[in-house]
Amino acid sequence: MFARRTASLLAGGTLALAATVLNAGQAAAAATSLPCDIYGAAGTACVAAHSTTRALYSSYNGPLYQLKRASDGAVANVGLLAAGGYANAAAQDSFCTGTTCVITVIYDQSPRHNDLFVEPAGAAGPANSGVPADALPVTAGGHAVYGASFSGRMGYRHTSAAGVAVNGQAEGMYMVTSGTHVNNRCCFDYGNAEVSIADTGNGHMDAINFGTECWFSPCAGQGPWVQADLENGLFQSDAGPSKNSAYTGNAAPFVTALLKNNGQNFFATKDGNAQSGGLATRYAGPEPAQPGYSPMQQEGSIVLGTGGDNSNGSIGSFFEGVMTSGLPTDAADNAVQANVVSVGYGGPSPVAGGTLNPGSTISLRATTACCTTRYIRHQFDDAVTSVVSSGSSALDKNDASWIVRRGLANPSCVSFESRNYPGDFLRHYNYRLLRRPMDGSAAFRADATFCPQAGKNGQGTSFASFNYPDRFLRHYDNTVYIASNGGPDTFDATASWADDVSWAVNAPWAP
Ligand code: AHR
Ligand code: AHR
Repeated sequence: MFARRTASLLAGGTLALAATVLNAGQAAAAATSLPCDIYGAAGTACVAAHSTTRALYSSYNGPLYQLKRASDGAVANVGLLAAGGYANAAAQDSFCTGTTCVITVIYDQSPRHNDLFVEPAGAAGPANSGVPADALPVTAGGHAVYGASFSGRMGYRHTSAAGVAVNGQAEGMYMVTSGTHVNNRCCFDYGNAEVSIADTGNGHMDAINFGTECWFSPCAGQGPWVQADLENGLFQSDAGPSKNSAYTGNAAPFVTALLKNNGQNFFATKDGNAQSGGLATRYAGPEPAQPGYSPMQQEGSIVLGTGGDNSNGSIGSFFEGVMTSGLPTDAADNAVQANVVSVGYGGPSPVAGGTLNPGSTISLRATTACCTTRYIRHQFDDAVTSVVSSGSSALDKNDASWIVRRGLANPSCVSFESRNYPGDFLRHYNYRLLRRPMDGSAAFRADATFCPQAGKNGQGTSFASFNYPDRFLRHYDNTVYIASNGGPDTFDATASWADDVSWAVNAPWAP
């Protein structure tokens, strides 16, 4: 155990620099209480603290997560830039250069060492994979870091956790997740679950669920909702369905989702925008009336990304989360939310916009004479061109803004991450360009990688498809394809091909 947690090779190369940064970081960190400092000071200490993006204690300076790379099976830890600071994502980038990595462990920063490991098979689902390590690039605290993006059959577990509530003990938990990468399959959860990875009955779970699975009809709106997975149900109230028809869900790119439960006769759910504002209580009241929930019968295992029995059809995003011993106060929850907001998740990228350098945010403008006010934007999950101007809505501007990333299949090419759908990239499928969550597959990586070259009409830039190098990003009837010059489909038409495949790389509509 101890050896695994010692400083990794990754940190070794930059030790001298890290030591310098450390002092500045410690001074800064001392002034700021991070989530587990806040809960600890309120008498509800963290018994689990997981994040791929940052420290959750101002004094923490250990590893955040472990990578395993495909090329040679080697593993390495990713740590922090400074104590109490942000993930050293550059170390990941260098370790995974020329290959791909998955996250094999998400370390527990709490003294309990409740590390999360890739979840084995359970009663309701086969063994899981770790998440692709580079699928969810985001900004936090002004630093480029990675969240954890779950496709189906991905999940983590600590089967027998130390200090986590059992048999009706009180606990609280929150996670920072996303409202843009969700589905209606069971069960994107973070929290307390069964040791046996099987459904052992009502009240044997106490986990935050976030997704669009409406377990107890009716549900208001489309979701995604914060729900309590208390086993055999995703509860929005003691009755099951929400008692608040105005709560139609929270589809913000970054969401704080919170659950607390005294284990006896009270539970509450809250959510909020993780980028601004406070938390809203969605339910606070008695435990469900059905047998088994009062008192609760938690088993103290920790799950992330699946149901308690490893139902693993769900998708989701995870940036950070903690579990506490004891029922947190509302004041502590509010202070934690304020700290999350202060992180500035997804904030402006640190690289100036309008260039193809990774980290830069851009908009791509058509150069064909018909269409020079049109930009590539996503709409209903597809890529089209739309007229965007300074008077356009914030939604249109966000939809037409893309963060340049190193090419997912080749780092000397580029990929384009959606500005308002973190972890979603432009990829082609049947030669159409779509906005989709990165699933880690080789096919996705290739379909989402484009290699810039001089614009074919002498203006701007043309983008060759990585896996169909004679096809370039092209608009045709205001839809975006990868098109060859004179190929079999109508969108391969030679007329205006050179213009249609040439794009001006502009400053972003939504920086
Ligand atoms: O309670 C909802 C789900 O039901 C649990 O996560 C799972 O264990 C069971 O299938
Ligand atoms: O995409 C808009 C226009 O549609 C293209 O310029 C042309 O090729 C097609 O007619």
